[in-house]
Amino acid sequence: MLILGLETSCDETGVALYDGGAGRLLAHAVHSQTAMHEAYGGVVPELASRDHLRRMVALTRRVLEISNRTTADLGCIAYTEGPGLAGALLAGAAFARGLALALGLPATGIHHLEGHLLSPLLSARAPRFPFVALLVSGGHTQLMRVQEVGRYQLLGETQDDAAGEAFDKTAKLLGLGYPGGPALSRLAESGKPGRYRLPRPMIASGDLEFSFSGLKTAVRALTSKEGELAHADLARAFVDAVVDVLVAKSALAMEKTALTRLVVAGGVGANRQLRGALDGAARQRGFDVFYPEPELCTDNGAMIAFAAALRIAAGKTSASGPAFSVRPRWDLAAIS
Ligand code: KG4
Ligand code: ZN
Repeated sequence: MLILGLETSCDETGVALYDGGAGRLLAHAVHSQTAMHEAYGGVVPELASRDHLRRMVALTRRVLEISNRTTADLGCIAYTEGPGLAGALLAGAAFARGLALALGLPATGIHHLEGHLLSPLLSARAPRFPFVALLVSGGHTQLMRVQEVGRYQLLGETQDDAAGEAFDKTAKLLGLGYPGGPALSRLAESGKPGRYRLPRPMIASGDLEFSFSGLKTAVRALTSKEGELAHADLARAFVDAVVDVLVAKSALAMEKTALTRLVVAGGVGANRQLRGALDGAARQRGFDVFYPEPELCTDNGAMIAFAAALRIAAGKTSASGPAFSVRPRWDLAAIS
């Protein structure tokens, strides 16, 4: 069955076509709104919703064209039901439901984070269930135990800022624009380690909870105190601190669950320093780490179409009538 996947939870419009029968991603296209939001230093929800509406038809046409298919070939339409910005979610859900109704197809709402954490299964080197998932995005930092499709147990999460949020806020302090995660990561590559020492929040707490808001405060304190601040060295200190905490907690999660596979998902999962450090820890401690393809780390429609395909194959979707809702706040552990 061909599944059209639509992602509109935040500031990327993603559309993809996944062939459930062949187990193959046929095409995916993403339009990022970052240039539009940059002037405001963050996502403006109303602008995000309107832009999703503007992009969706063209992106859907492009994906069908690349795969040499038409709407007549579609079997199901999947969209992000939550969590995310209410207006942005509504734009995608209304488009998906409307298209499904017009074509006489079932439509199904997908949890955004389920999309992220199943996305490494789209890689050539895919993990088997069960595994531990480290979800590190702009809005979430969580460790989950993934038993199988639809069975997710929260092991620990951030008490305040998400890892991506910490990257973005620190990047802003260093004048790197929005969203600054990738730029901060690049700047850190030329920085000297050890010049500035930042805290490793909750690293020794013995549990799987995180806290990142103090790091940004520590960076701010340094930027206001030091006259000649070496930005690259500070970026390096920040990245080293975040990576140390994420690696230590992931290793602890592997130990506590006695599982042997770790899956990393979400935008911060594209971070090179994090990948290097996790690979090192995995070699040392004897577990395997799996990542999505770099272009599928950040928000995209492929992970939504793919999660829908797995849920359909597992008999876990219930296609409903034309009425629909979105869930701006939605706990992943609550789905089945
Ligand atoms: O998963 P995602 O695309 O959107 C959410 O669902 O939040 O993640 C976006 C986040 C942003 O905070 C962005 O700065 C961060 O991921 N990010 C990175 C990198 N690439 C994206 N952070 C650090 N290093 C990167 N290479
Ligand atoms: Zn995301």
